[in-house]
Amino acid sequence: MCGIVGIISSKEVTRRIINSLKKLEYRGYDSAGIATLVDGDINEVKCEGRVEVLEKDISKFNLKGDIGIGHVRWATHGKPSKINAHPHSSEQVSVVHNGIIENSTILKKFLEKKGYIFKSQTDTEVIAHLVTEYLKKNSLKDTIIKVLKKLHGSFALGIIFKDQSNLMIGAKRGSPLAVGYGPNENYIGSDSYALKSMTNKISYLDDGEFCIVKKDQIEFFDTAGTKVNKKVMNLSKDEIDYDKGDYKYFMEKEIDEQPSTIIACINEYVDKHNKQINIYNFPWKISSIESIMLIGCGTAFHSCLMAKYWMEQNTNLDVSVDIASEFRYRKVRFKKNCLYIVVSQSGETADTHAALALCKKNKMKTCAVVNVIESSIARDADLVLPIYCGQEVGVASTKAFIGQMLVLYILSIKISFDQKCISKKKYQDKIKNLLTLSNSTKKTLKLDQKILQIGKTFAEAKGSMFLGRGYSFPIALEGALKLKELAYVHAEGYPAGEMKHGPLALIEQGMPVVVLAPRDEYYKKTISNMQEVIARGAKVLLVTNKNKDEVISENIWEKIEVDQLDEELIPFLMTIPLQKLAFYSALEKGYDIDKPRNLAKSVTVE
Ligand code: G6P
Repeated sequence: MCGIVGIISSKEVTRRIINSLKKLEYRGYDSAGIATLVDGDINEVKCEGRVEVLEKDISKFNLKGDIGIGHVRWATHGKPSKINAHPHSSEQVSVVHNGIIENSTILKKFLEKKGYIFKSQTDTEVIAHLVTEYLKKNSLKDTIIKVLKKLHGSFALGIIFKDQSNLMIGAKRGSPLAVGYGPNENYIGSDSYALKSMTNKISYLDDGEFCIVKKDQIEFFDTAGTKVNKKVMNLSKDEIDYDKGDYKYFMEKEIDEQPSTIIACINEYVDKHNKQINIYNFPWKISSIESIMLIGCGTAFHSCLMAKYWMEQNTNLDVSVDIASEFRYRKVRFKKNCLYIVVSQSGETADTHAALALCKKNKMKTCAVVNVIESSIARDADLVLPIYCGQEVGVASTKAFIGQMLVLYILSIKISFDQKCISKKKYQDKIKNLLTLSNSTKKTLKLDQKILQIGKTFAEAKGSMFLGRGYSFPIALEGALKLKELAYVHAEGYPAGEMKHGPLALIEQGMPVVVLAPRDEYYKKTISNMQEVIARGAKVLLVTNKNKDEVISENIWEKIEVDQLDEELIPFLMTIPLQKLAFYSALEKGYDIDKPRNLAKSVTVE
């Protein structure tokens, strides 16, 4: 993952690089660094930790310069430390890198034999020395062509040179790189968001391409060094200034924003007046779709799994789900009339992007459900269905999960009606129910105080389990993931009916277990499974929905009741207490809620 930025100008760049790095921190936040060129010298400042630490260090060193590169890191090779922070420099060059150089060990041996001394444990340092080595006998352009050929794996690179005060290099294979055009200055960055305060004119490098960026000119080349022309995109001028408002944490704000997320998304896809769903840009006949494959990672994978339940319920299609990192390397049988749906909040997740590329290579119909519409995945898919939930900053996804599920649910009922699997009346009833979702979500958010108390028990637990059947199973997985991510408590999401096939052995006296048991066709079965864990000493938090019948069970530790809604919509409501549970557990432990340890928001390495 890691974020990179570079600016070449005739004005000071340090402050602006720092500002862009702050926007890129969602890609990694274990260390940061910057290098600028001043009077033929490369000056570096690096630190372990966040950009705010770097900012303080820079003020001590009074770092200046009108050409520079910066980096935020998520460690792959070598622990997070000042020495492993980027940029990595040789006598001649300074490099920032996002990705993994898979043959770095071989290259390192080759370079060590030539006398190069390595300071860090990173794979990136080989690039700095390799460039230095090739520059001895080659022009700058030939050096770049040769070095890129030598590197295996994925990368986005920014390089500055000690004796070239008028240019910097950007290169891309696998990891994204945007190039920005400014007034008598130009930029490179991991995404357009990092550059938006400086320009709205952007081009994206394609795989294998590199660019020579000068103040007043940008030239693009393919792998062989042949010039290529690039499309310049005009992004919307408004810079999203997303702050915490009265909240202490972005995650808290993002959880609370979910009712508006739902309204925004419904407004885009649902014609409330005529009670119909509008997906105007669907490029194929819906009747031609025979099966669906949903692919994602992390939370996005859970929304894919949720969609499988809805799509199987509402259509006659074959629906499969896969984790992107598995899908991309399996011997997949591609099916001609299958719709391949990739789901990704960021639209940059390396494995999901690779899965999409594989589908495209096999000439499949592809659809992307994304939040960031300028992302790589959104640019490459045939059909883009945005989730319209606004920027999500908290690393652990919350409102984007709700948004992804909502778009997938809307798509499922659209396909269902268009393929004549449900009557017009049923279709319109489903839409009518959907229009009440935001309100019920609002009510669920009010269950706060109770969850605050419950969170204390989960915070202290050694381990926990989240159980559910049917529509509640994907939500159980998501609830467990949230607790792991935020409170660092071991949590297992399990189909309730599967407990007796092993996991029941884990239950011990006082272990907190969440049981998701809405009043659906599985209710009684799940309640029986709940009894089985209670009988073995578990402290059960039951999440169900309001009903005239009391829950027929004793010895439940705590109970949370969400609204009564159409059972297909209950998963949205069930999600909220689980998000809050993870939030309060992490709060109790004093952890960094928006930036949990070892994680990043956008995972651009595989
Ligand atoms: C990271 C994030 C998760 C997210 C996953 C997939 O692991 O920490 O919150 O679910 O990536 O991200 P995507 O942007 O593809 O939805």
